[in-house]
Amino acid sequence: MTKKELFLANANGEYTKRTPIWIMRQAGRYLPGYRRVRERVSFEELCRSPETVAEVTAEPITLFGLDAAIIFSDILLILEPLGIDLRYDPGPVITPILEDPKQVENYHTYNPAEELRFVGDAIVETKKRLGPDLPLLGFCGAPFTVFSYLCNTSERRDLHRVYRFITNYPDQSRRVLNLLTDLSIRYLKMQVDAGADAVQIFDTWAGELAESEFSEWSYPYLDRIMTELKKHHVVTSLYIRGTYHLLDKINELNLNIVSVDWKTPLPTAGARLKSKSLQGNLNPYIMLGPMQTVVHTAREIIEGMKDYPGYIFNLGHGILPMTPVDNVRALVDTVHDFERTA
Ligand code: CP3
Repeated sequence: MTKKELFLANANGEYTKRTPIWIMRQAGRYLPGYRRVRERVSFEELCRSPETVAEVTAEPITLFGLDAAIIFSDILLILEPLGIDLRYDPGPVITPILEDPKQVENYHTYNPAEELRFVGDAIVETKKRLGPDLPLLGFCGAPFTVFSYLCNTSERRDLHRVYRFITNYPDQSRRVLNLLTDLSIRYLKMQVDAGADAVQIFDTWAGELAESEFSEWSYPYLDRIMTELKKHHVVTSLYIRGTYHLLDKINELNLNIVSVDWKTPLPTAGARLKSKSLQGNLNPYIMLGPMQTVVHTAREIIEGMKDYPGYIFNLGHGILPMTPVDNVRALVDTVHDFERTA
């Protein structure tokens, strides 16, 4: 079985003897090669250089033998062609942020296959480098999460600007969310056409919403994306940081994989989700501790999921920049050494 077959089998809810593993933000600042690349190019330049994207996307695959790659990019690049200035320092800085409803009139749709063509080119380049047997994931941000950055700009989980905008200007908010939804659908289709084997939608901030708020401000847009992608048989994954209270609503979405944070026990998620594959959920902070703790915690997680059909190991959120590389190697080896017996 190739790694691509292993990943897709699990995405489709099939039981396999071996559990595939990849890591959110697996190409990032904890890696020496990545840091060297970043000494010569800015993050923004890097994202626009297909050759360099292929190089950094491949680094963790080569180092650890991970079972899937995710194209190196960022969820906020979709904002730039709307006339918004985007810098990273290292967190995103957006100018101007969305505060005045009149700004919405300035946002015009565009063709992602043209404006974000460098992402498609990077996927082609990366596929060439990694070969057809390694699955490559494309991705985008969920409309609500991208909208949150547009209103908020800061990395902190402070949603006051987001709430102020959606409560004061619900019609304009829905216009922006619908625009982002249309763009995301076309953007993801472009990534699949370029060679992405599956796509993950990051709704990092949606976990801050109450279920009823999620139903109003995130779910309808996710539903539209997932429904459209399913028409084209695209394999889909959804990540939300703070999944627990939203599981029943997430269950209504037509998607393959639910990627959960570390506060949501995987067996509980498995019991509440019907016919969905699961991904997650090692606490990324555990990766900073001693190697034995990493190995022990990973074994506990995988042991708890040993009978579950459709499971992909991952962290509960992105890997932290200060994570020791040796702990990542130990984690991947631990998951690879585990034989499921059901
Ligand atoms: O997973 C991967 O290896 C692929 C690359 C990837 C990045 N961002 C690279 C990146 C992915 C999948 C993302 C998604 C993303 N970007 C999300 C959703 C996932 C999540 O973590 O919740 C969000 C919310 C963003 C927005 C964003 N971009 C933030 C909050 C930051 C700062 C993060 C930090 O670590 O400081 C970025 C910048 C960014 N995106 C970096 C990387 C490697 C750091 C930039 C640098 O090299 O200095």
